[in-house]
Amino acid sequence: MVIELGAGTGSVTNALVSRGIAASDILVLERSPDFCRILHDKSQGMSIVQGDAASLCSFIPQDIPVRAVVSSLPLMNFSLPLRERILTQIRRALGEYGCVIQFTYALFSRSPYVNVGFQRDMCRIITFNVPPAKVERFHC
Ligand SMILES: C[S@@+](CC[C@H](N)C(=O)[O-])C[C@H]1O[C@@H](n2cnc3c(N)ncnc32)[C@H](O)[C@@H]1O
Repeated sequence: MVIELGAGTGSVTNALVSRGIAASDILVLERSPDFCRILHDKSQGMSIVQGDAASLCSFIPQDIPVRAVVSSLPLMNFSLPLRERILTQIRRALGEYGCVIQFTYALFSRSPYVNVGFQRDMCRIITFNVPPAKVERFHC
């Protein structure tokens, strides 16, 4: 299963499906009810759950391994306790394996993932995005 956190209007969700991830293997977790309605309207068969990433593990069906978490959450805008809670939940959801991919506009901030034991294995600055964005991948 692949989990997307903070799917907004679904542009990353669409990219996951177009890159070949089966919609039935995707669980989308989005806090905003309005965005969830938009995601439901465009749903291609993935599970769309309205909820808080700080409670991520409570939304994951038991016995289904999580291969990857893809996040557009604005982590650097969150309070430190909330950010740590979300990172701990991501870490627990992935277990010993899997990876997390984070999109951010905070180009120059040190990623908080390394503070909870993740190791970064990819970093790209997307200059043609407006505003420029950074994509990083971490593994457990
Ligand atoms: C930068 S936007 C994502 C944009 C998205 N990739 C798109 O294509 O529209 C961040 C999203 O995270 C959601 N969000 C913020 N805090 C959240 C939380 N604690 N749990 C789940 N979703 C959250 C917001 O509602 C928003 O949709």
